[in-house]
Amino acid sequence: MFPVINKQILAKNIKRIDIAAEHIARRVQPGQFVLIRPVEGGEGIPLSVIDQDPDKGTISVIIRELGETSQTLTGMALKQNIHAILGPLGTPAQIKKKGAVVCVATGIGVAQILPICRGLKEAGNKVVGIIGARTKRELLLEAQMRLACDRMMIATEDGTYERRGLATELLERLLDEQGIDQVNAIGSVDLMRTVCAITKPRKVKTLVQLRPMMVDCLGLCGACRLKVGNKTVLACVDGPEFDGHRVDFDDYEIRMNAFKEQIWDNRKATSNPSGSDPKTLTKFLSGILKS
Ligand code: FES
Repeated sequence: MFPVINKQILAKNIKRIDIAAEHIARRVQPGQFVLIRPVEGGEGIPLSVIDQDPDKGTISVIIRELGETSQTLTGMALKQNIHAILGPLGTPAQIKKKGAVVCVATGIGVAQILPICRGLKEAGNKVVGIIGARTKRELLLEAQMRLACDRMMIATEDGTYERRGLATELLERLLDEQGIDQVNAIGSVDLMRTVCAITKPRKVKTLVQLRPMMVDCLGLCGACRLKVGNKTVLACVDGPEFDGHRVDFDDYEIRMNAFKEQIWDNRKATSNPSGSDPKTLTKFLSGILKS
């Protein structure tokens, strides 16, 4: 039994849900995720655990309402039981003392990078957080990021808050000003590709989190195959964290675009092909078969 303990609206179509899940709360590490199946016989949705309280036995996830499963989950009442939660899943993020670390994230990636920032700070690193959004209203978890980082930098594309511009522009400026030992980046394909293009010539180690379509999240179905360092890897068991300088972002982009509307809410598309655009499904499946 996994009752919903608390719900909070963070931004348009983005909600936080706290869930009682004692065994996961005790074991989950930064960078890991869970597969949540809200109702029996329904689809599962993989979500990063952004917070945990081992004493209370609760975990917190952040959901973008993109499809039926995510809306079922966010529509659950307080104390209502979630049917099943599998986890923790995935390989924990590398949390080591490196020195000065920059954590860059945009969109819902801010929720995913938050526990990594906390872990890196606890490990003794000086953590600089850089978050970005199109406009102030779309910025997520600013207060929590300020607590988790030693220094925060914020960019909005329309200039409605802090610096006008892109998070990657702030990163570039920071790297020119001071020595940085590692960069962690989570966000869109464009964000992570740009971050890696900035850090690679400067020889700054860069870790990214890749979130392709996932189905079973157990390494059995092959849906989350990616190319990293000329090898085929599975994001759900080998990742989701990878060395950004070795990621084939073109291949990753094809996979992300195949089901853009159903990222993180994908069981419907793969288990019910008749409900999907046949051209899109063919593109996705041919991508798997070519890998
Ligand atoms: Fe099936 Fe990763 S989701 S192998």
